[in-house]
Amino acid sequence: MVSADAAKLLDELLHVIRDLFHYPHAAILLADEAGKWLFLEASRGYRKPGGRAFQIAIGKEGITGWVAAHRKPLVVSDVRKDPRYIQGIAHGRSEIAVPLLIGRRLIGVLDVESEKVGAFSRRDLRILSLFATQAAVAIENARLYQECKEAKDRLQKLIESSSDAITTADNRGRLVFWSKGAEDIFGYKASEVLGQSAAPFYAKGREEARRIMGQLVRKGQVKNIEVDYLGKDGRKIFASLSASLLRDEHGEVTGSLGIIRDITEFRVLSQQLLQSERLATIGRLSTQIAHEIMNPLSSIKMNIRILSKRGELSSNDRRRLEIANFEIDHLQKILQDIFDYSRTLELNLSREDVNEVLEKSLLMVQDRLEEKQVSVTKRFARKLPRVPMDLVRMMQVFTNLSLNAIQAVNRGGKVTVTTRLDRNVHGRSVQVTLADDGKGISPAQRPSIFEPFYTTRSDGTGLGLTIVKKIVEQHDGRIEVKSQEGTGTEFTVFLPLGTKASGFNEIGKSRRQ
Ligand SMILES: Nc1ncnc2c1ncn2[C@@H]1O[C@H](COP(=O)(O)OP(=O)(O)OP(=O)(O)O)[C@@H](O)[C@H]1O
Ligand SMILES: [Mg+2]
Repeated sequence: MVSADAAKLLDELLHVIRDLFHYPHAAILLADEAGKWLFLEASRGYRKPGGRAFQIAIGKEGITGWVAAHRKPLVVSDVRKDPRYIQGIAHGRSEIAVPLLIGRRLIGVLDVESEKVGAFSRRDLRILSLFATQAAVAIENARLYQECKEAKDRLQKLIESSSDAITTADNRGRLVFWSKGAEDIFGYKASEVLGQSAAPFYAKGREEARRIMGQLVRKGQVKNIEVDYLGKDGRKIFASLSASLLRDEHGEVTGSLGIIRDITEFRVLSQQLLQSERLATIGRLSTQIAHEIMNPLSSIKMNIRILSKRGELSSNDRRRLEIANFEIDHLQKILQDIFDYSRTLELNLSREDVNEVLEKSLLMVQDRLEEKQVSVTKRFARKLPRVPMDLVRMMQVFTNLSLNAIQAVNRGGKVTVTTRLDRNVHGRSVQVTLADDGKGISPAQRPSIFEPFYTTRSDGTGLGLTIVKKIVEQHDGRIEVKSQEGTGTEFTVFLPLGTKASGFNEIGKSRRQ
């Protein structure tokens, strides 16, 4: 089947044949790709093929079949005497058929019939042959045009359905094409960027754009290089770029084509994976070391205890043993922190009053508070619902946060502890905020404070906040930090009232009970 455009052209050709050259019965048959069949594509005054496509085997049947096979015109004065004849019009008596050729290539056959015997002269043959030459070119052009259009449509669909950004730029680096994928990734509509330079999209600036362009010109193409771009909202886009030079038919460079894949999500995920693998390794390693140290340390502690019970010790020696004992306690605390960090914690849940838990936790650090003359202001919300928690672990959270605050403030500093009930889309939670007016945390330190073994204190282990975060998250809660260098720090713990992990829901009792 020919396209609608081509069908119109064939129809018009037959029009000309009838009206200008006065042949009332004419048909155009087109050859298939393999050159085996002729298909009737348009006709005037011919029998209707009756729904079925009318086709003729080239070289095997029909006068048109012979003409197609021999690529020569043929006039048959009386079709009744020609066994090749296949009826075209109702009372056909004579026929003239001319091949439609582009050079030696067969496109089809132009066929004209008459109800009169010997209706066609040499003159008719000349006229129709001449006409056929022009018609063949027109038909072939229509076909080529259709092919181009289809190829263009296919390509267009392909480009528009790609989630990658596909762009082209001219020789001066000005954008000429900007795909739908590009609009999605960068946030700019084509109308906003066409005609502009692509250089400002490079997060590392024009230098980077120039460097990549240089590489492209030298090698003719670049493949999957990582480039950081900037989106319309200022967001950084981590991308993988493949680009090649575009050339015209003489091989002259006319511009460049770029395909940009957004790998931001992939990059973030792989960084997270790397980080968690690192943390897991640190965890494994430190637990192994902790295990190796734990037993000898217990034995040292026991021996010191035996020694200190001796009556004959001088007061100086007794003091030395006390210091040793104190240091061993400190070491054991570190080992315990390491175990807490690397072990999965088994929570022993009960419903607790957060205000009371805070009171108890502050009592634990009472000595330190007094030592540094730190004042504590309590802003507790009254009648808070009880929160499902592991009491011992949650006290560990609040003592750790209090100790950090005490360590951060100057002598006579202030710590404020606030509790409140919070309600948001995720449900209700109790919020505990510990604020201090200490030295604060710099923006550079900020990303590291929850990492294991990150400490800025000479006697710190750097496991305090790591464990705090782990315990809070095991309670389905989260922890946030706000800090200003030189002004103070504020840690807020959100504890949900109903948690999946706890087996508690907000209204009922434990599902495990
Ligand atoms: N309230 C705070 N004010 C200022 N800096 C803080 C505060 N809390 C934590 N930090 C910073 O975060 C770092 C990590 O804290 P974290 O509690 O994890 O370890 P640490 O206190 O150094 O050691 P430890 O394991 O003994 O708790 C601290 O060294 C400190 O630099
Ligand atoms: Mg600490």
